[in-house]
Amino acid sequence: MERPPMSSPLPQSLVLLGAGKMGGAMLEGWLRIGMNPAGISLIDPKPSDEIVALAAEKGMAINPDSRSLGPVEVLVLATKPQTLDTAAPAVQAFITPNTLLISILAGKTLRDLSARLPNATAIIRAMPNLPASVQRGATAAAAGPGVTGAQRAMADALLGSIGKVEWLESESLIDAVTGVSGSGPAYVFYLVECLAAAGKAAGLPDDIAERLARATIEGAGEMLYQSPLSPATLRQNVTSPAGTTAAGLEVLMAEDALKPLIIKTVAAAKRRAGELSG
Ligand SMILES: NC(=O)c1ccc[n+]([C@@H]2O[C@H](COP(=O)([O-])OP(=O)(O)OC[C@H]3O[C@@H](n4cnc5c(N)ncnc54)[C@H](OP(=O)(O)O)[C@@H]3O)[C@@H](O)[C@H]2O)c1
Repeated sequence: MERPPMSSPLPQSLVLLGAGKMGGAMLEGWLRIGMNPAGISLIDPKPSDEIVALAAEKGMAINPDSRSLGPVEVLVLATKPQTLDTAAPAVQAFITPNTLLISILAGKTLRDLSARLPNATAIIRAMPNLPASVQRGATAAAAGPGVTGAQRAMADALLGSIGKVEWLESESLIDAVTGVSGSGPAYVFYLVECLAAAGKAAGLPDDIAERLARATIEGAGEMLYQSPLSPATLRQNVTSPAGTTAAGLEVLMAEDALKPLIIKTVAAAKRRAGELSG
């Protein structure tokens, strides 16, 4: 297999701890952006049949001995947060002073990670969201003090393989991120439910209301994805003066309507994220 050129920010060697839903999605992303599968090793006590088949097809090692690997450039933690304590001793063996540690464990701070993995000098904490499973994730990341510019570029490429990446100046913003993009997909799913219920209330048959509501959010999301225009411009473009959309938006955009409700929604999720990680 051809190695990436020297200028590529992709690592030559990467260990993924936890090849579950999010780990599996990242793995697919890394292969898609051209990472050499021979440089990827997976650690998971019970990998799924799909992961075992993918590893066999691409030539990726599963549960290798740390001594059989050379220096590991990147170690990605993607187990459940509560398994950090049990997994940490085995993981230590893969970490050298040049290893970049990327963690997506919800609620585990840079400090928690350093305490459990004292060998790690360069740590990035990232918070992806569920649409990463369809390569449309929104990930926010914060880098610890030991991370070099090259390592950050590498993390940007790896996390960017599952969607968009935002870099945070301070890790303290992660709880707000959880409230917006972490929990956000569920808010949007609920919006579909509300739109379907409103369609039924307006006289549509149940199944038609549900299909129309779903297709509407799918289509609006796709337009946002494809268009360089701001959401406000996209909204204005479909709102003719005194038309039907304007009549609907007048209710939705009233001072005490959707915006204050969403602000309260995000604040509640942010508060809960703080409680869970505290
Ligand atoms: N899913 C999301 O939308 C999302 C969003 C943001 C952040 N995250 C974070 O992503 C992480 C993974 O979430 P997920 O939804 O992908 O969970 P998941 O599907 O349960 O994946 C975790 C994987 O780790 C494996 N594992 C358990 N113990 C291990 C060990 N000691 N060593 C190596 N692997 C081990 C699990 O195996 P078993 O199944 O056999 O236990 C499973 O395959 C979590 O920390 C979560 O906070 C997830």
